[in-house]
Amino acid sequence: MKVFATFHLPGDLADRFAPHGIVYTENTTGHPLTRGEILALARDCDGMISLLSDRIDGDMIRSLTNCRVIANYAVGYNNIDLAAAREMGIAVTNTPGILTSATAEITFTLILAAARNLVQGEKMMRANAFPGWQPELLLGHGLEGKTLGVVGAGRIARRVAEIALAFNMEVIYHSRSPKDDMPGRFTTLPDLMATADVISLHIPLNEATCNLISASMLNLMKPSAIIINTARGEVLDEKHLIEMLRAKRIFAAGFDVYANEPAVNPELATLDNAVLLPHLGSATFETRRAMAHLAADNVIAVLGGGSPLTPV
Ligand code: GLV
Ligand code: GLV
Repeated sequence: MKVFATFHLPGDLADRFAPHGIVYTENTTGHPLTRGEILALARDCDGMISLLSDRIDGDMIRSLTNCRVIANYAVGYNNIDLAAAREMGIAVTNTPGILTSATAEITFTLILAAARNLVQGEKMMRANAFPGWQPELLLGHGLEGKTLGVVGAGRIARRVAEIALAFNMEVIYHSRSPKDDMPGRFTTLPDLMATADVISLHIPLNEATCNLISASMLNLMKPSAIIINTARGEVLDEKHLIEMLRAKRIFAAGFDVYANEPAVNPELATLDNAVLLPHLGSATFETRRAMAHLAADNVIAVLGGGSPLTPV
C-alpha cells in the first residue's frame, strides 16, 4: 500500500509505516505542491496526509479512486470537502488534543506581546534607538484583574482560560451553549466583545463562524482592548480590524492567522499595534512530531481495516 504526504513531516514516518506494509513517500521539494502536483502524486495512493494549506476540494477527492483515508496534519479541517469525502467513502481525520497546549501558549505569547508593546520595543532596540529608562516609555496594559473574553469552548479555549486564571484574570466566554468544564462565566458574544479587555478566538472555521467577529462586533470593543486570532483568518472581518488599528480605536491585535494565507494584507506590516506571527500555533518540536505520529496512526488504522483514531 502507498501513502503520500504533501510536505516533509517530522517523526520518521517511513519507519512507522514500514511494519504495516505501507510505502511512504512525501513531497521533499521544500515548497508547497500545486493542485495538479497533488493530484498526480496522490491519484494511486491508498492514503494521503495533507496540510491545512492544501485545498482538498470535491473534484480532487472524486479523482482519488484508491484513497481510503485523508489525514489532515492540523486540528482544523476547513480545507477539506467533507461531503465529497463521505460520498467517496474516504475517512477524514485531524490531530486534536495534542496541539492544545502549544496553541494556548502561542495565544499567550501574542497576548503578552500585544499588551506590553513587544514589537515596538524590539524595533527600538534593533534600531539602536533606546533613549534610556523613562517613566512613560512604551507603557502597556497589565493583565492582572483584567477580563479575558474567550470565543469558543473547545480544548484550546479551555486551556487559554486556565492560563488566564493563573494571571489573576477574570474569564468570560461565549460558545453556542454553556460548557460545564469551561472556566469562567458564559455570556453573549456582544457582551463579551464590549466587556473584555483581551479577546481571544478559538473557534473552527465553518459556515456558522465565517465572519462571526464582524465589523459591528469589532466596533463594540473598548479603546483599551486587545484582540488575538489564532483560529482562522476568516472568522473575523480583517479589513475592518485593520482600519480600527490604524485609527487606534483599540489598543492592539495579535495575529497568527490571516484571511488569505499565505498572502498577508500589506497594511498589517505598517501597523505598530499589530503583532504578526506566521501561523505558528502548533509549531513546537514536540507537537509537530506528535501530530505526524497521530496522522500516520490514523492512516495505519484505516488501511488496516479498523476505525480512524480521530475522525472529524
Ligand atoms: C492549525 O491551524 C491547525 O488547525 O492545526
Ligand atoms: C482543539 O483541539 C479544540 O477543540 O479547541
